[in-house]
Amino acid sequence: MNEKHAAPDVTGLIHHPYVPPAGFAAPQPGVFKASTVYFPSVAAMRQFEWKDKSAYTYGLHGTPTTYTLEERLCALEGGSQCLLVPSGLSALATVALALLKTGDEVLIPDNAYGPNKALAEGELRHYGISHQYYDPMDPDDLSARMNERTRLVWLEAPGSVSMEFPDLPELVRRCKAHSVTCALDNTWGAGLAFKPFDLLGDGLLGVDISAHALTKYPSGGGDVLMGSIVTCDAALHLKIKLCHMRLGLGVGANDAEAVLRSLPSVALRYAAHDRTARELAQWWQAQPQCAQVLHPALTGSPGHAHWQSLCGQGSGLAAGLFSVMIDARYTQAQVDAFCDGLQLFKIGYSWGGPVSLVMPYVLQTMRQRRSELLQAGTLVRFSVGLESISDLREDLQRSASEHLPLI
Ligand SMILES: Cc1ncc(COP(=O)(O)O)c(C=O)c1O
Repeated sequence: MNEKHAAPDVTGLIHHPYVPPAGFAAPQPGVFKASTVYFPSVAAMRQFEWKDKSAYTYGLHGTPTTYTLEERLCALEGGSQCLLVPSGLSALATVALALLKTGDEVLIPDNAYGPNKALAEGELRHYGISHQYYDPMDPDDLSARMNERTRLVWLEAPGSVSMEFPDLPELVRRCKAHSVTCALDNTWGAGLAFKPFDLLGDGLLGVDISAHALTKYPSGGGDVLMGSIVTCDAALHLKIKLCHMRLGLGVGANDAEAVLRSLPSVALRYAAHDRTARELAQWWQAQPQCAQVLHPALTGSPGHAHWQSLCGQGSGLAAGLFSVMIDARYTQAQVDAFCDGLQLFKIGYSWGGPVSLVMPYVLQTMRQRRSELLQAGTLVRFSVGLESISDLREDLQRSASEHLPLI
């Protein structure tokens, strides 16, 4: 064959002998992508143990990138083992599937993240696992509902959308008194507002599991879906890890890298979201269209005292979320028009990104019971981004004066 048209050495392109020098060091950890990982020998393949992260066996079971992110998330939350999953919701679902079997019961706060309740009403019920919704603001209600079939209690602080802050240490004590595993959806606290495994700061009281939607603050970009499951108990971790492996859950290396890149700034971003949210929540308190502002750091918001004792060191820490109960004299159509009229606040789900979001909710369809802590009205949830406070305030002011006329 003509030398000019010789076939390329494809084998050489695949099995190239070059090995880059060791010792590369830079701010960001490397992005390792793999389904297959190589074993140096058959003997090594038979011997390698992936469960304790002492080796690599298959991309789904871990790479240097995912191991690194897991360890950093343990540091964020004060745990000792971590599993990564493809979304916050899959963190909640994996915990339930790992710990519950036919005949068991799970207790869920009535103000929990909606899809966690939908999982109980759907797949869990279908598998013969029952559920009850408890009043998170009444620890006696939780205790009264625990029975010999209760295997898992979900906790959330504050509750989704309506933002009531429960007495978390007391709810955990009630679970411990009944020897029932308690799992916290710690997306709001993010490992920053309080320490889930050391609630009182004395090392004596903590949740068993912290599930976290990394989609929100750890990602911080509104562009990644991921979740984590952190524990301090090796046996509990292994039980969930085996289920996680059998379900085939994993995360992409580029997404893990995006979270690793955002993680160093998470505390700064969280504090900035908090500052703006509190200012806007206080502004709403002075508006005549507003019947109630739901933000745990505001005096008078349901559970404020519980927030104060758990997160209130100094001026305390809270995430960038709050809800406003628009007075009942305004119609749903007027409230919807107010949301549509906002320019900087986009209409969208989720939170923790740079862009402020707004979402009206019909609370009656989301709760088993009506809470006496909530005023009548139409609820609008705000997720505050990183824009300037005065621009956001102006946006609210303009749309409110256009669409919620003083009556
Ligand atoms: C409290 C809470 N937990 C879990 C999730 C689920 O996270 P993801 O969107 O990553 O599934 C959300 C999402 O909004 C949430 O608000």
